[in-house]
Amino acid sequence: MKFRDMREYLALLESDGQLKRSSIPLDVSRDNKDMQPLMRHLHNDNNIALILENLQGYNTPDVPLIFNPFGTRERTSMTIGIRDPLEAKVEHARVLADSNTWIEPEIIDKSDAPCREVIIKGDDVRLDKQIPHVWFGKEGPAYITNGIGVTKDPETGKRNVGWYRTALLWDAFNPAGEEYPEGYDQRYMAVYAYWNPPMNHIGNHLFKSSLQNKPLEVAFACSCDPAVHLAAATGLPYGQDEYAFAGGLRGAPVELVKCETVDLEVPATAEYVLEGELYYDDQVAIGWHSNVAGYYDRIHRIPVMKINCITHRKDPMWHATIEMVPPFDHNYIGMVPVEGEVLADLQRKIPEVKDIVVTPSMLYIVQLSVDGARKPHAEFGKYIIHAVWGASGRWARTAKIVVVVGPDVDPYDLASVEWAIMTRVQPVSDTIMNPHGQAFVDDPSAPMTEFGFPAVSEQMGIDATIKVPERFDEYREVSQADPDDVARIAELLKPVLG
Ligand SMILES: Cc1cc2nc3c(=O)[nH]c(=O)nc-3n(C[C@H](O)[C@H](O)[C@H](O)COP(=O)(O)O)c2cc1C
Repeated sequence: MKFRDMREYLALLESDGQLKRSSIPLDVSRDNKDMQPLMRHLHNDNNIALILENLQGYNTPDVPLIFNPFGTRERTSMTIGIRDPLEAKVEHARVLADSNTWIEPEIIDKSDAPCREVIIKGDDVRLDKQIPHVWFGKEGPAYITNGIGVTKDPETGKRNVGWYRTALLWDAFNPAGEEYPEGYDQRYMAVYAYWNPPMNHIGNHLFKSSLQNKPLEVAFACSCDPAVHLAAATGLPYGQDEYAFAGGLRGAPVELVKCETVDLEVPATAEYVLEGELYYDDQVAIGWHSNVAGYYDRIHRIPVMKINCITHRKDPMWHATIEMVPPFDHNYIGMVPVEGEVLADLQRKIPEVKDIVVTPSMLYIVQLSVDGARKPHAEFGKYIIHAVWGASGRWARTAKIVVVVGPDVDPYDLASVEWAIMTRVQPVSDTIMNPHGQAFVDDPSAPMTEFGFPAVSEQMGIDATIKVPERFDEYREVSQADPDDVARIAELLKPVLG
């Protein structure tokens, strides 16, 4: 199943009872006390998605707000038309591993592109009036978290599409106590493009453009078909096209339209598009920023983009989300691509790898299809740990803790993983300590660099497989009820237990 746009996906969630509309007044202005608590409440409770239609302190009151659309593993799987999370992960990994299954995008005429229904150019651009500003609480600026950034390599012309956050400067608190330059609140936004740690492909393009003394042309397309977002959050090898990968995921080409002012292409059914130029040498202080590890970053210095054109639908919608103590809305649409990246790579090399789970706090758990005497060799668990650290994709090398378990341990159930660690691991013999791994960008426990991010982190691998035959001739039998018997007893006692 393929969605034409975000709206078709939302319609499916609504018909499925997973999305509701609310006109209860909620505050979205800076320092509000409504939006972050709402995210926490949904994730503590039934976790549905919402469309919020009565927002206070909102600069674009006619634009409804999409809230928590990706908040579960199931909903993230539904972005590619599959309900079962394991099936969706395997499909993501299958398409990723085989670029023959990718489908090239198609360019359609501008007159057929919904994202071109309204066009605002040059001096008419007013970000404070034309782009929704939503705060979740203590953050300095209102962030755009629904945009995929499109750029081309200045040397090769090859395209990159990545899901990157940007920061709007209107009514923004400056964490360094500086003033943003005059007019930046109307025409500029800051972009999380990094050419230093933690690096991303838009950052590579920006660095190359600086060597040519040119700004980098950029377009951000906001709220597209969710399969395009899933593809844009996947770390493809440098130079490969996320639109073609998205085509493979959705089984049909992504329809693109040419931009108005830059030589780039964006999904035709996006809700909003911002076009402009990104400057390597012009950076501003941004913060506070609530990050994926669940802590605030105080100050980031990141480059600014001048907006030369905004296009949008006649009746646009806006999606805003926050990173905070997990879980939160886009945790899974951020993690499933990482699981797919590692699974696609490892299964090609090591067929005994059955599943990989990256938890919302980014513990990596690898489940094998064999254990004990059926493992290929005594060091197999440790071999898997090294394979994760060397896997392709952007994040696996930053896995701070990797746990390897056998097929009888449920990698989605942390109690089961804990049981395996406590009953199958000798802490000195069955672990690997790596003093010089790559740090995860938001880990507050790793030493900070001058760039405002950690570069190096200690890492640990835990081999929680059964040490037969290398340490024991046989392992004790597990004392656990058979699941079929549990179901039978549950049925039998229903009159009493309900
Ligand atoms: C909602 C959301 C926001 C994200 N924001 C950023 C960001 O600001 N900067 C970044 O480097 N990665 C961000 N990511 C992760 C990237 O999308 C992901 O690593 C992707 O593979 C980057 O593409 P690239 O490898 O082509 O650079 C975000 C992911 C999601 C789901």
